[in-house]
Amino acid sequence: MKPIGLFYGSTYGMTEKVAEKIKQAFDKQQVDLYNVKDTGVKDLAKYDNLIFGTSAWGIGEMQDDWERFIINIEGFDFSGKKLALFGLGDQKEYPESFVDGLGTLYCRLPDKSVVVGEWPSKDYSYYFSLADKDGKFVGLVIDEHNQPEKSGTRIKQWVAQLKKEFM
Ligand SMILES: Cc1cc2nc3c(=O)[nH]c(=O)nc-3n(C[C@H](O)[C@H](O)[C@H](O)COP(=O)(O)O)c2cc1C
Repeated sequence: MKPIGLFYGSTYGMTEKVAEKIKQAFDKQQVDLYNVKDTGVKDLAKYDNLIFGTSAWGIGEMQDDWERFIINIEGFDFSGKKLALFGLGDQKEYPESFVDGLGTLYCRLPDKSVVVGEWPSKDYSYYFSLADKDGKFVGLVIDEHNQPEKSGTRIKQWVAQLKKEFM
């Protein structure tokens, strides 16, 4: 498999920790981590396999650094690439906007045809999520507040899926 560039935004470090666990789950596979507050579009261009991760803030908002970084990718050419998304949220405190940051990140992508790594939404409890598309999440969903015991298995299963879907 070709190297993977994983780009994340994280306010209190929870998304960053999940990013590190995803890297570990890929084992010997090369996964380079980038915090979007410290990187630019030239780093995106280096990879054919990409992962983007964000937490959720307020109704429909991505993590702050993604709000700034997303402008850079509006004209970015994703052709020939595969992109997987993951999002963190809190289904108990924010059941009406659960992982909306992930949903907004997906909505703002200039090319959705390159997205892989859909994730079943049945094991979560919420009223509404922008990340829910036809009964599936547009990427892996992690809730470290309410289901931390499920995170490890979810990450492993999702990475196994990406090993088949990436190039
Ligand atoms: C002010 C505030 C607003 C939040 N809004 C949402 C939200 O709308 N939906 C959601 O699922 N989680 C929401 N969260 C939960 C965060 O997304 C969650 O704590 C996440 O794990 C933080 O990750 P980070 O430290 O990587 O930024 C909110 C948290 C705070 C403190």
